[in-house]
Amino acid sequence: MITISYNNTTNVSALLIPFCKNVEIKERITILAEEMNFSAMRVIDDFKAENKEVLAIYPGNMQKADKIYFIGLGAKPTAKSILEAFRHFTQQELQRLPETIGLDLVSGTNGNIPLAQVAEGAVNGIVLGTYESGLYQTSKKSVSQLFSFQGSIAIKCNKECLDEVKVGAGKGLAIAETQKKVFKLVNAPSNKLTPSQLGKEVTASGKEYNFKVTLYNEEQIKQLQLHALLAVSQGSASPSEFIVMEYLPEDLEKKLPIIGLVGKGVTFDTGGLSLKRSDNMHYMKSDMGGAAAVFGVMELTAKLKLPIHLVAVIPATENCVDAKSIKPGDVINSLSGKTIEIIDTDAEGRLILADGITYLNREYKPDVIIDIATLTGSCVQTLGYEAAGLFTNNDQLASQLLHAGESCGERLWRFPMWDEYNKDIRSDIADVKNFSGKPIAGAISAAKFLEYFIEGHSNWAHIDIAGVAFGDAEFFTQKTATAFGIRLILSYLEGLQK
Ligand code: BES
Ligand code: ZN
Ligand code: ZN
Repeated sequence: MITISYNNTTNVSALLIPFCKNVEIKERITILAEEMNFSAMRVIDDFKAENKEVLAIYPGNMQKADKIYFIGLGAKPTAKSILEAFRHFTQQELQRLPETIGLDLVSGTNGNIPLAQVAEGAVNGIVLGTYESGLYQTSKKSVSQLFSFQGSIAIKCNKECLDEVKVGAGKGLAIAETQKKVFKLVNAPSNKLTPSQLGKEVTASGKEYNFKVTLYNEEQIKQLQLHALLAVSQGSASPSEFIVMEYLPEDLEKKLPIIGLVGKGVTFDTGGLSLKRSDNMHYMKSDMGGAAAVFGVMELTAKLKLPIHLVAVIPATENCVDAKSIKPGDVINSLSGKTIEIIDTDAEGRLILADGITYLNREYKPDVIIDIATLTGSCVQTLGYEAAGLFTNNDQLASQLLHAGESCGERLWRFPMWDEYNKDIRSDIADVKNFSGKPIAGAISAAKFLEYFIEGHSNWAHIDIAGVAFGDAEFFTQKTATAFGIRLILSYLEGLQK
């Protein structure tokens, strides 16, 4: 656990000073050079404050720091670029960083970005940079002091900014700790993270941060009549789990609107009998990225004690191949009572989400429903790894979510939901079918399928994170979790309070 202290950067062995690329740099470096006794000219020549640029020097006067890192934030820093610059720095320097590092928010330059945002991004990035992926490696690499001990970040800032910096840094730390937990869940292989194990992790967090968790095992799921979830899980040796969470702030003065979240919790997707090819199948351990994001938002809402009434459900299951698996052509029931023709067993996410949405809607009558899921390859083909797909029946919700995405750097792109697409999921034998059978507009017809289950709700959004939940990262050889959706939904929730 990393801690933060304030106004105490004297005598740290490593001092980090962020600089945004602007005209003030030379002046600031010259002042610093006099104070700490180093050659201003050489630093000005070598350091241009480009985004992610790092220059390390050993100053002549070591009273304040043995080593200074100049960290470039580029000409137009954003919440995302600040976070990434610091994450990049920590990951690169991890083995060399001491137990306590200083973060100087006085000596550098930060352009027009509020200091609270620099503090949040810096702390978030530093802490994420300590994430270690080799959870199951038997010969552990030697880890850095910042990582292995009770590392700490000593922040220096002016008195008049102290309050806002404290808020920003505290939030950056809280978010990063939850994101690291979510990285672990998404990167965990399916033999370590089964649906019931996911339930246990959520329960532990609920106890720690004070939100309510109710778990339903497969027997209880039968009683709840979540037929679509049961259909997906019937071919799996690990039983399904239905996880329900609720957070309600204490000392509630007025009735708050209820925000409802649903996350796709497929702990492994083989495709079922419509089996996937093997080349990328191992990545399907990340098919619970939506569930992990929903869990992360719940944990943070409770941890930061946001004035939000939040309910969240996770239908958790594997999608496996077995004699008992659902078969293409089968007709299944769902909690809503609507029947579904299975065209492709690999379109399992929408089945379990349908039951999750129906349950949430009927039990809690939320004012807003947002579901988030690694739902379609079609969304990846359309948007690549740069944005998640947004599908909604409400223009105001669209603009709130799009704005939240732009401001935190977890981008969304809105797709059309025209009624003409409904014909793609019309079935001759059942009420609806789970796949059009055509290689076109797959992300949209998946969203249309979900829309069929919202029972007239007028404020619903679906977020397809198939391309962004699991991605290439600089310091890892394979794809890794991104925790996409946490900062997005958190920033949406914060926007509701303004
Ligand atoms: N879990 C996948 C979607 C996915 C694809 C996530 C790539 C992450 C990366 C989903 O369950 C799936 O298999 N969807 C199928 C649906 C199709 C059969 C209608 C797809 O998109 O190919
Ligand atoms: Zn699938
Ligand atoms: Zn899937």
